[in-house]
Amino acid sequence: MRVLVALMVVVVSVGVQALVMPASTDDSGDLWAVLVAGSKTYMNYRHQADVCHAYQILHSHGVPDDHIIVMMFDDIANSPENPTPGKIINRPDGPDVYQGVPKDYTGTDVTPENFLKVLAGDTEGLKGVGSGKVLGSGPNDRVFINLVDHGAPGIFGFPTTFLYENDFTNAILGMSRNKQFKEMTIYLEACESGSMFKNLPDDINVYALSAANSTQSSYACYFDSARRTFLGDVFSIKWMEDTDREDVTKESLLKQYSIVAKETTTSQVLQFGQLSIDTQRVGQFVGDDQTTLDTFGPFNPLNDPCLNSSMASPDVPLATLQMNHNNAVADLGADFWQTQVDMLQESRGFVKDKMREIVAAVTGDSSLTNQMMTNNHHQIHKNKCYQAATNSFHDICFDLSENTYAMRVLYAIVNLCEHGYTADEFTTAARAVCDFDPITGII
Ligand SMILES: *[C@@H]1O[C@H](CO)[C@@H](O)[C@H](O)[C@H]1NC(C)=O
Ligand SMILES: *[C@@H]1O[C@H](CO)[C@@H](O)[C@H](O)[C@H]1NC(C)=O
Repeated sequence: MRVLVALMVVVVSVGVQALVMPASTDDSGDLWAVLVAGSKTYMNYRHQADVCHAYQILHSHGVPDDHIIVMMFDDIANSPENPTPGKIINRPDGPDVYQGVPKDYTGTDVTPENFLKVLAGDTEGLKGVGSGKVLGSGPNDRVFINLVDHGAPGIFGFPTTFLYENDFTNAILGMSRNKQFKEMTIYLEACESGSMFKNLPDDINVYALSAANSTQSSYACYFDSARRTFLGDVFSIKWMEDTDREDVTKESLLKQYSIVAKETTTSQVLQFGQLSIDTQRVGQFVGDDQTTLDTFGPFNPLNDPCLNSSMASPDVPLATLQMNHNNAVADLGADFWQTQVDMLQESRGFVKDKMREIVAAVTGDSSLTNQMMTNNHHQIHKNKCYQAATNSFHDICFDLSENTYAMRVLYAIVNLCEHGYTADEFTTAARAVCDFDPITGII
């Protein structure tokens, strides 16, 4: 079949324009897609903007809505903070990407549990929830999954809870056992996103890209001063703008990967799983109807409008508040934003202090405490301990989805677990230390 594809590429490239490529060139399978933005609030505009853009890509390449499942909180387009109500853009002066996006699972229906049910094709489990749409793919079909949000070691965020790496990996293995795909491609944008694929097998026809390696931040870009928010994330912008400018019936996943890895200078874009899939064409995972190509100028790393506005995701909240402060004209407005900046800095310090107190209670030793509070990027081997202790921290101390900054101190839990401390010891200490009322908004 590869010969046939190669032949057709040759035919097209010699200019026989009348030759129309059939929707699927090498089998009769369908394409299915699951798109998830895991965050909420206007500050995180960019995640839902990325996912809306991904939907527009699939839609314009001919993938029907009944094969696309979208999960997003849906609090951006009509947020009072959005100066263009009902519209979301994903690059400066870009087109509206919100129009037509299916609202399969929104608000509190955007959960890891529902996501895993969508993947499993669990119609029964999603009866009466959102649109109830699930992956209906079979052994001849291709599946594309795009996930965009905050992350932490072995964690992908959702609006109220989070998805652990091994639950995700197990779901993928289950899909493979149940023959829910011929091939599957996953593009994941989040901080430390490489950690989500560390156990992905390389022999089950699943191919994945992460925006960053297992210890790096992912980066936001395109700060829009009128909207007072970042419009996109670097890796997402790079793969989607590449898709918009390339003929996806010809471009291979490998070519896309090399372009995106080169242009994402802010973090290390990595490939995982079955790399042989990267010889496939992008169109086999985003739809094969080739549309008009977008014209962006040639890539210039020194003057790239996404890169030259990029910012590490954890720095976005403070920077956004700071820019609001700088832009505030009235003294009153400036004071308000300065207070927000000061308060956020203080409350971030509070999170870190509480983690340090817990660690000190667990280790009972100041030099061990310093060691555990150093982010030396341990790989997670003690999954059970990490999950149980992280759940305790989330339940007892800081709700991670309401306080995304708390994700930035989870490395201390990784360290404790990897050094043989137990989740029970952590939980006991957390109960003693976190005796304050529930807190939100530490972002
Ligand atoms: C991730 O990238 C950073 C550079 O930003 C590098 O220092 C680190 O070694 C990389 N980690 C892994 C696990 O590849
Ligand atoms: C970023 O690049 C764009 C064009 O590529 C340019 O118009 C803009 O002025 C640059 N911005 C900065 C801050 O360098």
